[in-house]
Amino acid sequence: MFFVLFFILTIGYLYYDLIWKRKAYPPGPTPLPFVGNIFLMNDKFKPGYKLWQNLAEQFGPVYTFWLTQLPIVVVTDWNLIKKHFIKDGNSYTGRPEFPLQTQMRKGPYGIIESFGDRWIQQRRFALHIFRDFGLGKNLMEEKIIGEMRSMCDQIKKVCSEPVDMMNYFDASVGSIINALLFGYRYDESNMEEFLVLKARVAKHMKVAGEPVGGIIGMYPKLGNLPILKGYKDVVVGNWESLIDLFKKQINEKLETIDYDNDEYSDYVEAFLKERKKHEHEPNFGGYEMEQLESVCFDLWLAGMETTSNTLYWALLYVLLNPEVREKIYEELDREIGSDRIITTSDKSKLNYINATINESQRMANLLPFNLSRTTTCDVIINGHSVPKDTVIVPQISTVMYDENIFPNAMKFNPDRFLENGQLLKIEELVPFSIGKRQCLGEGLARMELFIFFANLFNQFDISLDSSNPNPSTEKEFGVTVKAHNYKVIMKSRH
Ligand code: HEM
Repeated sequence: MFFVLFFILTIGYLYYDLIWKRKAYPPGPTPLPFVGNIFLMNDKFKPGYKLWQNLAEQFGPVYTFWLTQLPIVVVTDWNLIKKHFIKDGNSYTGRPEFPLQTQMRKGPYGIIESFGDRWIQQRRFALHIFRDFGLGKNLMEEKIIGEMRSMCDQIKKVCSEPVDMMNYFDASVGSIINALLFGYRYDESNMEEFLVLKARVAKHMKVAGEPVGGIIGMYPKLGNLPILKGYKDVVVGNWESLIDLFKKQINEKLETIDYDNDEYSDYVEAFLKERKKHEHEPNFGGYEMEQLESVCFDLWLAGMETTSNTLYWALLYVLLNPEVREKIYEELDREIGSDRIITTSDKSKLNYINATINESQRMANLLPFNLSRTTTCDVIINGHSVPKDTVIVPQISTVMYDENIFPNAMKFNPDRFLENGQLLKIEELVPFSIGKRQCLGEGLARMELFIFFANLFNQFDISLDSSNPNPSTEKEFGVTVKAHNYKVIMKSRH
C-alpha cells in the first residue's frame, strides 16, 4: 500500500514538475526536481555567455530557464527586445523580490530592487538630483577631471615602474561616487575606509552572481544549512558592514545639516532635506531612512565596479592590440597635440577613441546575465504567452556577441563603429541595457569612461609590463565580469 501511494505521489510530482508547471511559459531546458536548470550554470559555461546563446539555438530566442522553482523567461533576440522592452516599456518595469534581499533591506527599498510606485518616485528623485549635480554639464565634469588629474599625478610618481591600474581606477571612480553621495573623496587620510568598502563590494558582486547566491536569495532558510551557511554569512555580513559605514556617514550629515537652506551638495543631503518636507506623512512619504541606506548601497555598488572594470578591460584590449594603440596616439597627436586636459567638448573630434570605448564595452560585455525584471501585465512575445509577474530578462550580453550583428564578434575591432572616419551609431550596442529600467548612471559612466580613457592615453605612453606581455582576457565570473590582474608601464608622453 505504502509503495503504491509513494509511486502515485512520485508520478504526480513529476507530472507537475516536468509538464504542468511549464505549460504557462515558453519552452526551455527540462528542469530537474528542486534544482530546476541551475545545474547548467556549471564551470563549463561560466561566465555564461555561451550558455544563454546555446539555449537560444536550441529553444529559440524566447525560452524559460528555471532557477530552482522560479521560471525566468530569457529574451535574446534584438528585434524582440526592441519591440517589447523599448516600445512597450511599461510592461517590463517590475523587479523580482528575492526574500533575502528584502530581509536585509528591511523592505523592498532602494532603486535597483524596488518596484511599483516606490521605484517610480525614487528613480525620478535620483535622476533629478543627478541632473542638478550637473550631469552632462560642468559640475560633474569638474569632479571627474579633478579625480583624473589626481590619478595622473599619482601615476607620475611611479612612472616606468610596473603598476596595476585596477587600484587607481577603483580609487578614482570610488571617489567620484562617494563625493556624489556623501560629499567627500578618498585620499591617503581615509584610504583604509575605501579599501574596506571596495573589498566588500567585490565580494558581494562575486557571491551574488553564483547560482548558490540565487538559491539563498530565494530561500534564505536554506542558508542555515551547514553547507550553505558560509555563503549566506558572506552576503549578510557584507550588507551589514556596508550599511554600518553608510549609517555613520548619514548620522554625521544629520549633525550638521541646515534645513533652512534648500541647497545641497551631495545626495544624502538632498535626500534628508526632501525627507524633512514629508515628515508629517506616513513613512515620510517614501523617504524613510531604510530607503536612504538602500540607495547608498545601490549607487555605490552599481557606480563603482562597473565603470572601474570597464576601464580596466578597455586598457587591456587596447594594449593587446598594438595597431589600435597606435591609432589612438595618432588621433591624439592630430586632434589634441599637447598635454592639455581633454574634456567632453573634445568628444566629437575623437572618433577613434569613442569607437574604441564602444568596442571595449561590447567586448567586456560586463553583465553576462542582465538584471531580471518582472512583467507588469500579461504579454505575448514571439507567439509565447508570458503571464503578469513573470521574471523576465532582456539578455543584452547575447545581443552584443551576436555574430549576425557584430561579425567576428570575439575580435576586438573598434573600426566596426566607424564609417569614413565618422562614428557609427549601432543601436545594438546596449551595455547600459534598454527601456525604462535602463542604467540610471549611464550619463555619469559615459563621461567617466571618456575623460579617464582619453586623458590617460594623452598623458602617458602605456605598454604592457614585459614580465607578462600577454595577459589573459579570460573573464572572472561575478554579476559583472572582471579581468585578471595585469601590470603596465606608464611613461610621460609630454
Ligand atoms: C560602465 C558602467 C555601467 C554599466 C555597464 C552599467 C550597466 C547597467 C545595467 C546593464 C543595468 C541593468 C538595467 C536593466 O535592468 O536592464 C544597470 C542598472 C542600474 N545602474 Fe548601471 N551601469 C554602469 C554604471 C552605473 C553608474 C555609474 C551608476 C550610478 C552612479 C549606475 C546605477 C545604476 C542603477 C541605480 C541601476 C538600476 C536602475 C533601475 O532599476 O531603475 N550604473 N546598469
